[in-house]
Amino acid sequence: MRIVLVRHGESEYNPLNIIGGDPNLSEKGLEFANNLNKFIENHSKWFPKKCICSAKKRVQQTVGAFKNKMKSILVSENLNELNAGLCEEITYTQFYQMYTEEFTKRYQNKLSYRYPNGESYIDLIERVRPVVEDIQSKGEDVFIVSHQAVSRALMAHFTGENLEDIPHIDIPLHTLIVIEDGKKKGMISVGSIDMSDTLIQESFDFA
Ligand code: F6P
Repeated sequence: MRIVLVRHGESEYNPLNIIGGDPNLSEKGLEFANNLNKFIENHSKWFPKKCICSAKKRVQQTVGAFKNKMKSILVSENLNELNAGLCEEITYTQFYQMYTEEFTKRYQNKLSYRYPNGESYIDLIERVRPVVEDIQSKGEDVFIVSHQAVSRALMAHFTGENLEDIPHIDIPLHTLIVIEDGKKKGMISVGSIDMSDTLIQESFDFA
């Protein structure tokens, strides 16, 4: 079973370091969505045709660019980004300045820290569990378009990554993470339409 994970394209909040919310894609994010569409076209045989995605606007706008390449698209609110509660729609700097004690608690234990009126990574790992179990029971290849924290939580299930490491896994924007048979096979940075896609790790057999 092949699982391809990706975050939405860059949102209007990403360059500003604003947490959460429901922003639109930035211009760069839209460009990525179009490049991704091209990538799927160029690797059509290899690429999963079943898409599961979050309900947030930035994800829906990303999926909009390639939806006609998919056989099915399932939207699940269980894949929405970590709920940062009190800290939704503020920057990390504001988080530190306004709620220094909370910020420090999170820094000390990111895995179990729960935002006031929000969630922890442990909560999120539980929230995505039904989606993961459904995928595992069907055994089909899937393309999951979600968010930074959600991709980390999904990896807790799909690759059995050490729980303490989960909140710190690098999930770059505009990069596909490929998981095959329970192992992270590698990452592909989806570049411009001139096919400058970079294989970050491993070589992929795109046949
Ligand atoms: O900054 C983008 C974002 O998706 C936020 O919405 C979310 O709270 C955050 O990443 C999760 O990453 P971290 O747990 O490292 O703050």
